[in-house]
Amino acid sequence: MQLLDGKIVSQAVKNELREKTDQLKADNKRLPHLAAILIGNDGASETYVASKIKNCEEAGFKSSMYRFNTDTNEDTIIAKIEELNNDDEVDGILVQLPLPKHISEEKIINIIDPLKDVDGFHPISVGKLVQGLPTFIPATPYGVMLMLEHYKIETAGKFAVVIGRSNIVGRPMSILLSQNTNPGNCTVTLCHSRTTNLKEICLQADIIVAALGKVSFLTADMVKENAVVIDVGITRVEDATKKSGFKIKGDVDFENVAPKCSYITPVPGGVGLMTIAALLKNTYHAYIQKNNS
Ligand code: GUN
Repeated sequence: MQLLDGKIVSQAVKNELREKTDQLKADNKRLPHLAAILIGNDGASETYVASKIKNCEEAGFKSSMYRFNTDTNEDTIIAKIEELNNDDEVDGILVQLPLPKHISEEKIINIIDPLKDVDGFHPISVGKLVQGLPTFIPATPYGVMLMLEHYKIETAGKFAVVIGRSNIVGRPMSILLSQNTNPGNCTVTLCHSRTTNLKEICLQADIIVAALGKVSFLTADMVKENAVVIDVGITRVEDATKKSGFKIKGDVDFENVAPKCSYITPVPGGVGLMTIAALLKNTYHAYIQKNNS
């Protein structure tokens, strides 16, 4: 069993970007700039956004963070996005999800300029992804693809099972794995809460991506020998022994599944780190696209 180490791969991505931004600095050029919007005070969202900002610094990017109270009205957020859309010094815009209930996720995503949609959630980005055209790929599935590429994992002709059909992870993941690309070229089955024979389907899989948000859901009896297992879960579980009061658990029962696998991602230290690296790559692409237009 080999670990798919998010620390190593994400660091390689960041180093590559750092070299590019060092060159931009040396040439007195403007740096890539990510603007992040955070509404409310969900603990996990605060941690993610803080981490995105910190990673921007590490890659030599500029970043801005805009915080709003939970009860901020939708029009205020829309006005902020429009301001950022029109700001020539901003390359990427990210609105951290989930949003408070009174704000429409659909409306907010639709208002972001598709050229700055570094999350890849805008319908134009999704449409291009489905058609296999160059676009911003949602950061988590993009991070998984970068990891498969880094470890040169054979995907062509393999049977991949994705568990979870969210717009952010499962659905785009299934599209990327089935594309005529390398990595890609898998036969893909997308499973979800209404799938009746999940265990039997998983047992046939060469590659399993668990992205449903249920701690230790994927157990050893669902995984065939030598499978590749990608764990996208990042659930906070109370743990009084930790300073933060919680630990992060994945969707895979790692201890029992790992011995059966050819490759597996740990949690933490796996896909989570890749998500941020992929976001940085998208932001850099937005910057390059803008400067070449
Ligand atoms: N919430 C959970 N994952 C994501 C993500 O990739 N982007 C944004 N904006 N919000 C999220």
